[in-house]
Parts: sequence; structure tokens; C-alpha cells
Amino acid sequence: MDISKLNNIITPSGTMAISNKAKMLKKEGKPVIGFGAGEPDFPTPSYVIDDVKAASDNPENHKYTAVAGLEILRNEISRTTSLYSGFESDPNNIVISNGGKHAIFNTLISILDQNDEVLIPAPYWTTYPEAVKIAGGIPKIITTNFGDNFKVTVEQLNDSLTEKTKAIVWVSPSNPTGVVYTKKEAELIYEWAFKNNIWIISDELYEHLIYEGEKTPSPAIYDSKFKNTIVINGVAKAYSMTGWRVGWIIGNDEVINIAKKIQSHATSNVANLSQIAATSALKNGLDETNKMKEAFNKRRDYAFDVFNNINNIKINKPNGAFYLFPDISYYCDNKIEKVSNSNDFCNWLLDEHYIAFVPGEVFGAEGYMRCSYALGEKDLKEGLTRFSEAVKDL
Ligand SMILES: Cc1ncc(COP(=O)(O)O)c(C=O)c1O
Repeated sequence: MDISKLNNIITPSGTMAISNKAKMLKKEGKPVIGFGAGEPDFPTPSYVIDDVKAASDNPENHKYTAVAGLEILRNEISRTTSLYSGFESDPNNIVISNGGKHAIFNTLISILDQNDEVLIPAPYWTTYPEAVKIAGGIPKIITTNFGDNFKVTVEQLNDSLTEKTKAIVWVSPSNPTGVVYTKKEAELIYEWAFKNNIWIISDELYEHLIYEGEKTPSPAIYDSKFKNTIVINGVAKAYSMTGWRVGWIIGNDEVINIAKKIQSHATSNVANLSQIAATSALKNGLDETNKMKEAFNKRRDYAFDVFNNINNIKINKPNGAFYLFPDISYYCDNKIEKVSNSNDFCNWLLDEHYIAFVPGEVFGAEGYMRCSYALGEKDLKEGLTRFSEAVKDL
């Protein structure tokens, strides 16, 4: 029997592939150190756990609730968004989904028709192009350069613009590069998108993880009616809550109504206890986030210095998220037996040295690799020492 033709056009998550292999080796007793995972190594704050424990006794939380999410959480999102991101949103214009990933998915299904084009600057988070394809659209990848610190320009966007262009995916700080656009740079892009009547899907999951320099303003600040803007956010990265699966969309009435319709047939409400966990996280402020950020900042400096001191590696120092994205192309031309691309190189590092990085090709950037520094300091140091030793004589 035939299955969907999607099978031929979608690739599985490459970040998951390397972490699965790393987990397998670990299970076999190998001393694997993972730089692959896109999640903080900190526990979820204890007050979140306490609130969830208490809420689990309430029978109301054992039943279906509103598709768009609990009112208390939507109110908290509206409040904290105004406080931290500087734009107003009506709690009725928010849909809570199963993580930022699901929010992006809902958004794309809500706005795309068959063969609509979505602009995606590369290096990109690996899910964007696949989610666009699943939603029936066509990802239009725009390659940015190391020399431009991987920032897309209006000129590049203009070159990719067609009658079919429906949206741009916008993320700053970025996964995988950690790059943060300045206010001025962002404003130029927003102006361009508004002028060309294109949706900006603004993925703001890393907004609280900026170490220096100015924060990128949300496009919603300039588009108070959400005519062109759809904001995606969630608790995974900022509150160390990846496993709770809570993200959300903020948009105009039309977007929210269709997203609710879609979600009503797909998943209904997000688990009530997870929503209560997210409410607790937002209510309790950013103290825990800032502690985590301080630790990430130290690790960023340490890891950056290690890569920067290796002659054959080029690296930019990013201002945000928890990733470095070094150029490792020097090692990708058979200096090591059977290693001719970033995928081979990362597999070699994992097989021979038990250190897991994600190959750049997963993010549309061959010749690079992503190093997540969201791991404990001892492992970070040990893993990077292994890396330096591994490439020392190449
Ligand atoms: C840029 C970006 N957006 C969205 C997500 C999705 O986060 P989650 O689905 O865990 O909330 C991630 C996770 O890695 C991400 O890196």
C-alpha cells in the first residue's frame, strides 16, 4: 500500500539523530559527552514542581479544558509579554500549544496554501523547512555568510522575493548560531516585510538568553494589530522546561481562530498540569532564568576560547542562546580517513572520541557544527579538551 509522498520530502530531525546515537553509545558504557542537545541542563524550578503537585489533586485538571489554553496561563503570557517584550496582547489572541514546535506547526498550517513560499535564512533551526513542507509550502532557503555573522540582509530577502512569498521565519537569538540582530538591523527587515505584506513568524524562544548588547525588538512592537506578525514563544529554554511541552502563538483574530480550529481537531488542550507548570514559571519571574544565564555566559566564554585558540577553526562569538557554530571545514576534506563533510566529522568525533556535536548540514550549513554549551562545566571542560586533543595534529 502507498503511503504519503511526504515521506520522500521530509527528513527526520538531524539533531535527534546525533543525540540518539550518543544515547546508544552511553548505554553501552562509553564515556559520551553530549554537546548536541538543545536544552538547558538545569532542573525545572522547584516552585513549578510544587505548584504542579498541588494542582494534580484538583479534579478539574483531570478533564478537557479550552482548546486555546487555560485562562490563567493566557493572562500570564499577556502580562509577561508586555513586561519583557514591550508589546500588548489580548489573552484571547493567544493559543497554547504543545511546545514552540507545535506552535510553529500550527502557525504554518494556519497561514499557508499549497506551494506558498516561506523565506528561511540559513543556518536555520532544522525543523523550519520540514514544517513548511508538511504544511504544503515551499521553503526558500537564503544562505547567509560567516563574514556577515550569519545575518540576512534586505538585499538578500529582495532577491528571494516572488509572488508566492507568504512569510519569513525570524529568530533572534538564533538556533543554531546564537546570533542576535541589533534593533536597527531588525527594523530594516521588519519594514521590508511590512512593505511587501509578508508574514513575519517571530520565534522568540531565546529572548531571555542574551549575554551582551541590545535585545532584538519583537516585530509586534511595530505591528500592534498583528497584521503581519505572528509571535511564537514558550517556556522550554528560558525556564528549563523542555519536557513540559508548552509553547504559544500570539496573533490577530483570524490567525488565532484558524489555529484554534486546527488544534481542536489535532490535540485539543495542552495537558492541564503542564499549563499550570508554565503559569507558575511565568508568575515567579526571571530570577532562576538569570542564574542559568550567568552560568551559560561563563560556559560560552570558556568554549569560545577553546575553539578560537585552534588555528584551523574560524568562529564568531555569538551574543545569545546557548550555541556556538564554528567553521570546521578544514577537517572536512579527508584529513581524517573517510571524513569528507561535517556529518562524517561529527560521527568521527562521536565514534572515536565520544563527543557529540551536531553537523552543520542539519542546519543547512555544510562545513560547520553546532556546539551546545548547555551542559555541566566539568563535562564541558573534559569534552572540549578531548576535542582539542583530537584535532591537535591534523
Ligand atoms: C529556535 C527554536 N524554536 C522553537 C523550538 C521549540 O521548542 P519547544 O518545542 O521545545 O518549545 C526550539 C527548540 O529547540 C528552537 O531552538
